[in-house]
Amino acid sequence: MEFNNLPKNAIIREVCPRDGFQSVKEFIPTEKKIEFINAMLATGVKEMEITSFVSPKAIPQLADAKDVLPAVKAANPGVEFTALVPNLKGAEGALAAGADVLNIVFSCSESHNMANIRRTVEQSLAGMDDIIALARGKAKICVSMATSFMCPFEGRMDPERVKMLIGKVREKGVDIITLAETIGTCTPKDFTETLRVVKPALEGIPAYLHIHNTYGFAAMNVKCALDEGFNKFDSAIGGLGGCPFAPGAAGNAATEDLVYLMQSMGVETGLDPLKLVAVARSLKDYGLKTMGSLCASAFGKPKPEIPQQK
Ligand code: COA
Ligand code: ZN
Repeated sequence: MEFNNLPKNAIIREVCPRDGFQSVKEFIPTEKKIEFINAMLATGVKEMEITSFVSPKAIPQLADAKDVLPAVKAANPGVEFTALVPNLKGAEGALAAGADVLNIVFSCSESHNMANIRRTVEQSLAGMDDIIALARGKAKICVSMATSFMCPFEGRMDPERVKMLIGKVREKGVDIITLAETIGTCTPKDFTETLRVVKPALEGIPAYLHIHNTYGFAAMNVKCALDEGFNKFDSAIGGLGGCPFAPGAAGNAATEDLVYLMQSMGVETGLDPLKLVAVARSLKDYGLKTMGSLCASAFGKPKPEIPQQK
């Protein structure tokens, strides 16, 4: 059965090692991190946001970025590795460590941009120029626009503002744009509304969606995005994730859930949900817990009996 008019393929960029690990309090030893990341990649993941080159005071868990990236990259040829960078110093570190894509992050809302990277939006936009000049010819440039849908401090983001900011970012000649639902509270209706408003501004550039799952709407928002023709997503194995500078934000859409969902609708991701579930379940061996991953908690268990209508 042909199900609606969905894209035939989708790309998943695995973000567990960055977004998932960044708010884990207890430091995961570097060798353990590398071992777990290699296990994630063994499922066939072809794009991964592996770490952040940020201040170790802001994100202590990712202070080993310069060791993790080269070690994993050497063991996994053919995978595109993205590293989050907040400023020029981060970009220098990411390039030296061999990042294929620099992911420059800023927020659409002033208050979250200030809380997260201590810059006004204008300062962030201006600061991108140096990073782009440095990286030109060495790595692709992705710009992630946090709080594109909801802000923890300002509420619903005006879609017209997001569209305007996409225009400003595109003037700089970047390669990829990511719109992030940073706090995971956007309803499918509002999510769709924003996508419809901004879609014309994204014509001709790969556009990823990064969706958190605080209210449990992530999978629904992914389905809405597919309906609107979007087919590139960030997600995290085990549903891990959350921005430490966005109060109340829970984990990401779980990769295993998205892959299972998409497979059930005939949208090919090239990934095997069963292998992903196995890796998600192994999180506990690293002292980590899945967050809201339905497949990792229930896959393969007997189906519940549906009571007969009397
Ligand atoms: N990597 C490592 N260290 C960095 C750095 C980077 N990219 N950028 C700045 N630093 C260090 C500086 O060397 C300085 O160190 P010192 O105190 O030992 O001298 C310190 O951080 C402060 O530098 P400054 O330029 O004044 O930055 P800041 O205090 O205004 O912080 C950021 C700004 C962007 C560096 C910081 O807020 C940050 O790293 N944020 C990342 C947030 C994040 O990852 N959020 C989740 C993802 S959305
Ligand atoms: Zn996130």
